[in-house]
Amino acid sequence: MLDVRGLRAGYGSINVLWDVDLHFEGGRLTTIIGPNGAGKTTLLRAIMGQVACTRGEITIDGVRRDGTDTWRMPELGVAMIPEGRMVFRDMSVQENLLLGAYPVRKHAGLDQKLALAYARFPRLFERRAQLAGSLSGGEAQMLAMARGLMADPRILLIDEPSLGLAPVIVQEIFGLLGKLKTEGRTIVLVEQNTRRAVEIADQVYLMQGGKVVLSQPAKEVNLERMHERYFGR
Ligand SMILES: Nc1ncnc2c1ncn2[C@@H]1O[C@H](COP(=O)(O)OP(=O)(O)O)[C@@H](O)[C@H]1O
Ligand SMILES: [Mg+2]
Repeated sequence: MLDVRGLRAGYGSINVLWDVDLHFEGGRLTTIIGPNGAGKTTLLRAIMGQVACTRGEITIDGVRRDGTDTWRMPELGVAMIPEGRMVFRDMSVQENLLLGAYPVRKHAGLDQKLALAYARFPRLFERRAQLAGSLSGGEAQMLAMARGLMADPRILLIDEPSLGLAPVIVQEIFGLLGKLKTEGRTIVLVEQNTRRAVEIADQVYLMQGGKVVLSQPAKEVNLERMHERYFGR
């Protein structure tokens, strides 16, 4: 359903992605792993239209979508939960959530979406009037995820959600990812926690130096060998 073919992208004159091909199957969870600087975040940004593609194409359901403005992506059912949380610290939890619904606000059902978000994340309900800047790292990640879900995306790009969080929160995040998968969403997950990310995945891509160096069904992944070969441990 989401396809990236022969994609080149980067920042100005600095090219980062070198002719990458990836296929994201509908309703499946695909994990992208790879060392720092491999181009994982750049790939997600390119899909979202935040980074210009200089070659290749991105298609959703067979329709070319590269070059689409970022703000139009929610209309196509695509949302990104960026790395580093990126919540608006000076706004309340609820205001942050409402921003996530902004692109589809006109379609009503806003109260219902808020209720759904709070049902999914009861702690955010308790903290709804609080400034997002006062949240713990785990709560901020939950808020970032809840905000991304406000537009009810069918394709969800998630960049390193567990980074720097305590094991109990990481557990919670992966539990949520499992649930989102059973809801039939197409999930693209970038993760440092390779063991868990592979466990939950259907398909795994390994990126290195702006290229896809391995593509495997998650069941066939031998993590130890992969770590030895590509992460130098
Ligand atoms: N805004 C930017 N401007 C210039 N180069 C960047 C920018 N963001 C990332 N890069 C470079 O692009 C490469 C890939 O980075 P990134 O996509 O963030 O990798 P990853 O997410 O896999 O760690 C790195 O060499 C990084 O330095
Ligand atoms: Mg990154």
